[in-house]
Amino acid sequence: MAVLPIRSLPDSVLKRKARKVQTVDGSIKKLIRDMLETMHAEPGRVGLAAPQVGIPLRVIVIGIPEEEDIVLINPEIVRRRGERIVDEGCLSIPGYFGQIKRAESVTAKGRDQNGREVRIKAEGLLAQALEHEIDHLNGTLYIDHPEVRETLHKVQPEETGL
Ligand code: NI
Repeated sequence: MAVLPIRSLPDSVLKRKARKVQTVDGSIKKLIRDMLETMHAEPGRVGLAAPQVGIPLRVIVIGIPEEEDIVLINPEIVRRRGERIVDEGCLSIPGYFGQIKRAESVTAKGRDQNGREVRIKAEGLLAQALEHEIDHLNGTLYIDHPEVRETLHKVQPEETGL
């Protein structure tokens, strides 16, 4: 296991569309273990997408405090419901926060680290994290959402999060 360095803007890996994982083999399982360790290395990190550690593959991990970690391979949002404005930051854009429009709840599907299909119904922070991390796999950062520009502001770098 290893704590991997987190890529930040303007690293071009963050702007690329990540590739689908074809087989959940040993190298993918190692990537997942390293991503979980990297996410948990500092308190306050609740999610990480593989491009953020320089790997352009469709893998995300989410760790909401006091809940079980979630691993999703080739994740997709299959349903969004409602709309709300939430504060958001990103580990790859340290020291900034903005307000973004996110769904109230989402349903996502993908595969877990054993290659089994999973479907997750989520609301609150988990729904936000799923949208944020899946955006990363498409090369989209939260600051690319047009409404964020008006509220983008500086914060302490350790407050960042997703
Ligand atoms: Ni992020």
